[in-house]
Amino acid sequence: MAALCRSLFHGFVKGNVYRQTSCRSGSSVRPPLSSMLAAASCPELRRLSVEEPEVFWGSVARERLRWIRPFQQVKDCDMSRGKVSWFLGGQLNVSVNCLDVHVEKHPERAALIWERDEPGTEVKVTYRELLEMTCRLANTLKSHGVRKGDRVAIYMPVSPTAVAAMLACARIGAVHTVVFAGFSSEALAGRIQDAECKVVLTCNQGVRAGRLFDLKSPVDTAVKSCPSVQHVFVSQRTTSPAPMGKLDVQLEEAMEKESAICPPEPMDSEDMLFMLYTSGSTGKPKGIVHTQAGYLLYTALTHQYVFDCQPGDVFGCVADIGWITGHSYVVYGPLCNGTTTMLFESTPVYPDPGRYWETVERLGINQFYGAPTAIRLLLKYDESWVRKYNRSSLRTLGSVGEPINHEAWDWFYNVVGDGRCPVVDTWWQTETGGICIAPRPAEQGAEIVPAMAMRPFFGIQPVLMGEEGRPVSGNDVSGALCLSQPWPGIARTIFRDHQRYMDVYFKAYPGHYFTGDGAYRSPEGYYQITGRMDDVINVSGHRLGTAEIEDALDEHPAVPETAVVSVSHDIKGEVPFAFVVLKDDASLEQMAVLEELRGLVASKIAKYAVPNHFLVVKRLPKTRSGKIMRRILRKIAMEQTDNLGDLSTLDDPSVITEIIQAHTHYKNQHKKKKN
Ligand code: PRX
Repeated sequence: MAALCRSLFHGFVKGNVYRQTSCRSGSSVRPPLSSMLAAASCPELRRLSVEEPEVFWGSVARERLRWIRPFQQVKDCDMSRGKVSWFLGGQLNVSVNCLDVHVEKHPERAALIWERDEPGTEVKVTYRELLEMTCRLANTLKSHGVRKGDRVAIYMPVSPTAVAAMLACARIGAVHTVVFAGFSSEALAGRIQDAECKVVLTCNQGVRAGRLFDLKSPVDTAVKSCPSVQHVFVSQRTTSPAPMGKLDVQLEEAMEKESAICPPEPMDSEDMLFMLYTSGSTGKPKGIVHTQAGYLLYTALTHQYVFDCQPGDVFGCVADIGWITGHSYVVYGPLCNGTTTMLFESTPVYPDPGRYWETVERLGINQFYGAPTAIRLLLKYDESWVRKYNRSSLRTLGSVGEPINHEAWDWFYNVVGDGRCPVVDTWWQTETGGICIAPRPAEQGAEIVPAMAMRPFFGIQPVLMGEEGRPVSGNDVSGALCLSQPWPGIARTIFRDHQRYMDVYFKAYPGHYFTGDGAYRSPEGYYQITGRMDDVINVSGHRLGTAEIEDALDEHPAVPETAVVSVSHDIKGEVPFAFVVLKDDASLEQMAVLEELRGLVASKIAKYAVPNHFLVVKRLPKTRSGKIMRRILRKIAMEQTDNLGDLSTLDDPSVITEIIQAHTHYKNQHKKKKN
């Protein structure tokens, strides 16, 4: 592994290095991190955050957040027991920190710019208006029986109403769980059941790339199997009427009747703020739990420092609120910092491949944050789609969710940023709450190495673990990426399954948080993420468990067994590849079965989870103890058959030749089809 990483990464670490030009870290323009720490340099702050976390985080939390009751203890954490608590004894309300504090100072500043699907139809919502919407929505929830601690499902694409719904939950102490509006009704039902949501918020329809899609019917189907749901609130995104059933409440009409004032619920620092389901290598998606104060502080601080975000900036993160990036860098971080945050409803190529940059010009976006998959798609088009728009407002470009390859990084930096905007490759996870490794914070003039996440954020202490389970010291080394110190943004548990939280994150390397990713530390001490070490794959920046896809496929009566692995894809990064064993009598109707398998995955998870490749095989390679050897299947799928690695534990080696032959046949068929 170390040798592989060396050969892969050595070249560019020694290659081009860019200096941060417009980053104002450490300069007088930046509002002080804390009066006490204002004079400190970034390395000094980092040292303090790691060596004296109580001093660092205590002073930042006092200065940056408005408390209803001050905290008495900065932290009480013991990673070996999976125990993480920050700002104990303190009480605050997240919506007050995201809204009221700004309404007092600049009520008419735009909080949101809703960049709707049709270019040029954006809607601005000021901080005053967003507070009003949030309070009306909070009162609507309250008058329909939602109380502190109740779970609320939000199945809506990004919009001001969806953001107000999240903040309304925060206002009254309810716990939101946003479910990406592309998930199937069955996936939605599974999440609602696990969280036992009392109500669901949705829209009649969604709009994307000029097309309308139904949101109400998947909700109707889902709630049939969710006895906990008492009401479904339906927001009217389009003029098309949605059929209303006995659970349904028209959201805008209900909000009209409510007061625009809603007293904020005092919340303990460690009360739940939200849960968000994410995939792991085994089992069903898990409900990752984030709490109030630590999460908010961490997203606000990373948002400011990593992106060099100043009050009044227009921050353009194109993520959907159904993912953690949308939670932390569309909603909570930017609003806590008083920024104007963009809500992007469309796609990078609608109505044409210039959409992002036309939006940058029209809205005057200062920081643009997106996924490498979109960059890889856009760089295939002519540069004129970028160059014809004025991008002088941009100061920082950010990338998230998957490794950014060199070609994409260079295009982002040189074409989009005209070689003057630092590109920050940000590594983090649903579980980390906010960015953990990124080129910033760093002093002005510090280098940025292309396609590298580089520097741990304040309070983050990365450790690379070797095969024997011990930390690998020194530089130019690789290992399993762990974080050895708790930070305020880390998830506190998996909803109603603390044991799973312990097992997944703290068992492999006791006392350390194990990220599931591998990383390389360069000779200069910078970090490069090398990819997942478990059975999690990343399709266009969306996280999927191969086990989840296998579970869906295995439900087919003609399919006794499947194995799903990932293969590289030049735009999506990775895509699922399914090896399928069929019952003997099913092979005649193979094509029909494969079509049904596609449908099964789409209906059980989501369309984006449907494997791009299905290869029917007679048997799967297994160890003598019956474990499927996915490692070998991945090599075959990736056409790396000259080095299949150690086959000594394989039960019957003849299966390999069989699968390679089937794969060669499949490839040839594919080529024929293409021609
Ligand atoms: O494998 C890493 C990859 O995405 C995983 C986390 O996925 P999720 O929880 O959905 O959160 C995505 C948005 C933060 C990680 O374990 N990943 C995320 N950012 C990067 C990355 N891989 C490489 N480079 C990154 N910058």
